[in-house]
Amino acid sequence: MHPIIFTAGQFLGLASWAAAFVSPDGTGRLPAMGWNSWNEYGCNIKEDVFVNVARQLVDLGLKDLGYQYVNIDDCWSDKELRRDANTKELIPDAQKFPRGISGTVGLVHSLGLKFGIYSDAGTDTCGGYVGSLGYEQVDAATFSKWGIDYLKYDNCNVPSQWTDQYQYSPEGLGSDAPNSTIQYSLCAWGHAHVEQWGNTTGHSWRMWGDIMPAWKGQDQWSWGLMPIVNQASLLWEWADFGGHNDWDMLEVGNGDLTLEENRSHFAMWCAFKSPLIIGTPLDTIKKPILDILSNRELIDFNQDPVYGASAMPYKWGDNRPVGTSDMVHPAAFWVGTSTKGIHVFLLNTRDRAVLMRAVFAEISPLKAAAGEEFLVHDMWTGKDLGTFKEYFELEVKTHDTPALRITMVDGKHPNANWSPK
Ligand SMILES: *[C@@H]1O[C@H](CO)[C@@H](O)[C@H](O)[C@H]1NC(C)=O
Ligand SMILES: *[C@@H]1O[C@H](CO)[C@@H](O)[C@H](O)[C@H]1NC(C)=O
Repeated sequence: MHPIIFTAGQFLGLASWAAAFVSPDGTGRLPAMGWNSWNEYGCNIKEDVFVNVARQLVDLGLKDLGYQYVNIDDCWSDKELRRDANTKELIPDAQKFPRGISGTVGLVHSLGLKFGIYSDAGTDTCGGYVGSLGYEQVDAATFSKWGIDYLKYDNCNVPSQWTDQYQYSPEGLGSDAPNSTIQYSLCAWGHAHVEQWGNTTGHSWRMWGDIMPAWKGQDQWSWGLMPIVNQASLLWEWADFGGHNDWDMLEVGNGDLTLEENRSHFAMWCAFKSPLIIGTPLDTIKKPILDILSNRELIDFNQDPVYGASAMPYKWGDNRPVGTSDMVHPAAFWVGTSTKGIHVFLLNTRDRAVLMRAVFAEISPLKAAAGEEFLVHDMWTGKDLGTFKEYFELEVKTHDTPALRITMVDGKHPNANWSPK
């Protein structure tokens, strides 16, 4: 593999380059963690929103847990003026951002956090603001100049059958090319099998339509949690260091999910190695929601420095064959690995409490030692549940997800060489 230095001037570099790039400063190696305005504020944004969120990320302890990106979504630019007539640079909305985007970036940076912006691969964003098509180079340079650390690049209003001249060519860069590193979050909705080429271009790629705060079902282009988990059960293997399936921003705390549904949402997004981008207001956040988003053991799994793969489904449940696609009852039994042990996630998709059993002989990394006793630990409470032989079982509330860490009785990793892929 070719380690390639990714610079802001190259975020437009498209898929003709076969090798993945590696950001030398480590940007994008692990799933991004942060906050984005869309799920709660939509277009109703202004500088205060982002500065207040930045303060709250610090005050609530979320920054210390790794949530570092404060991201603007759509609607930050001037919808009428669009671009400067001479420089062609994007013009921020002066009402919403009186100091310009760079002013807001400075305030957020001064709190030790990073700043993300939004653009679109088409002529216009999804909200009808100007997109980057044809202006990729100037927009990359502008974002770099403003101190931007992260770019969400949406997929609205792309002309059909579009091809262009942009090809990745690191040796072709001028000496004055911007050289700051921008985490590049492709928002290509899973189209064109982005999971198969996203790693040659960006650090993460959206895998599906928009998320909505509902357990299941669909509303236009938005989807509940279970259809997204189903998609993840079929495409989990496309996540690893430097490139992540993005199952969309967190709805934890939004809409009318139950406590158990909020927990399942967070546990599974951690298990998938999805970016963890909070989408709920922080000034009114309730303690149980903050506790979910602050679960250290789940975050540690998502951010593990040694094992980059997503957890995988090892059994669908109810005697269904491996690979069954079911948008209401997706795969229920998941296994992953970390520096601390083997992790099992038991997702109860049923509308009632169910007795769920993790049978050690069915879990490939535990098979070799399946006759032994294992120590089972509850990642939600941080407490050991005891030692067990052959299986561990518990009653799981409707739509809840117990998250277990399994080690040998002395705490040793049961199978440090195993990875889901
Ligand atoms: C980019 O290059 C300039 C000089 O060309 C240097 O001062 C700056 O530190 C570099 N920035 C990064 C992020 O590498
Ligand atoms: C992405 O590319 C990096 C660098 O080559 C590689 O380490 C990683 O495994 C790739 N990720 C995926 C999901 O293929």
